[in-house]
Amino acid sequence: MKFDIKNTKLAPEGKRRIEWAEKDMPVLRSIKERFQKEKPLRGLTIGTCLHVTTETANLLITLKAGGASASICASNPLSTQDDVAASLVKDFGIAVFAIKGEDNKIYYKHINAVLDMKLHYTMDDGADLVSVIHTKRKDLIKNIIAGGEETTTGVIRLKALEKEKRLLYPILAANEAMTKHFFDNRYGTGQSTLDGIVRATNRLLAGSNFVVAGYGWCGRGLATRARGMGAKVIVTEVDPVKALEAVMDGFDVKPMREAAKIADFICTVTGDINVVDVEDFRVIKDSCIISNSGHFDVEINLNALQKLSKSKRIVRNFVEEYTMKSGRKIFVLAEGRLINLASAEGHPASVMDMSFANQALGAEYMIKNRNKLEKRVYVIPEVIDRNIAELKLKAFGIKIDKLTAEQRKYLSSWEIGT
Ligand code: ADE
Repeated sequence: MKFDIKNTKLAPEGKRRIEWAEKDMPVLRSIKERFQKEKPLRGLTIGTCLHVTTETANLLITLKAGGASASICASNPLSTQDDVAASLVKDFGIAVFAIKGEDNKIYYKHINAVLDMKLHYTMDDGADLVSVIHTKRKDLIKNIIAGGEETTTGVIRLKALEKEKRLLYPILAANEAMTKHFFDNRYGTGQSTLDGIVRATNRLLAGSNFVVAGYGWCGRGLATRARGMGAKVIVTEVDPVKALEAVMDGFDVKPMREAAKIADFICTVTGDINVVDVEDFRVIKDSCIISNSGHFDVEINLNALQKLSKSKRIVRNFVEEYTMKSGRKIFVLAEGRLINLASAEGHPASVMDMSFANQALGAEYMIKNRNKLEKRVYVIPEVIDRNIAELKLKAFGIKIDKLTAEQRKYLSSWEIGT
């Protein structure tokens, strides 16, 4: 089996950590047990470009239990957990092409190594497999049945392809499931982003001015959790509705240029480019800590920051100090890449349980319906989405009420009014 990882000797530590995550992934476990019996993915080759974490390892093990052969490359150069990569290769026979800290050239070499596996199904977090297939490796498409996409940014890229009528195979947008974005994006990003910032800096959040750029599901989660840690949270937005929601959720809302002047922390979660830009760097308060938790490393304009500064140096793992010509210092975490996966371990297993249940059941659904699918972006059927929520509640030991026959009738009637 081909692979390219840091060190196979790290496997025992990786295996222990994969097992630790598994304990908190009961929904995925139940899918794995069924897949083991039914083999719905028998004979399929699945290529994945995902963050190589303990949680992803459990997804890959589930796909393998379903009869697929699976391989993985990283969906971010800094998110790979090298011990997990080692264990996947040594203990689970899964081909891994990922090394934490790989440069751009190796990153794409690893993507191509996965694409060389004659794939029937692609699974992306950010649409890099799809993008390379649609630009440089169109010859692979005849073999591909369908794909899955994990994240908001990936779905935006896929919808752009679909709109131009250039999407060449059907893709399931796992992100669009309720049991994905309501939980992973909100509670997962909320907790793991703070975890990343705190692990990188060991700075106190209580009493600080914490600026959250973007009030989508990820921004909401982050703003809420930062407030929970005692920070004074300021939200920046471009969408008037989301800005209004932030106001009514009790947050201060300001333009970035104003917020930057008083920020102790700025964290971007928008999915857009240059959210912290040259004019912001000119006014940012001394010693401000800037990080990003959006998918790509484009949200902080680091080129502009570099030009405005007279020197830079690494002061701690994942912390780079830029000294401006005025003497002010600005700290950037993890080169502006996903802070929650670079300096921490990404979202906790309990939320990834539902995200990856959507990927596993989504793959089964797409394969089962392969003859009916068009070259479109699909959303998982609501019954599957709700079933994931039911399984999660069951795992928590929580019971809920059921509609009575009378209530069901009332809800489907129009005659009864005042
Ligand atoms: N994205 C965010 N957190 C993650 C995790 N723990 N594993 C895989 N992908 C993730």
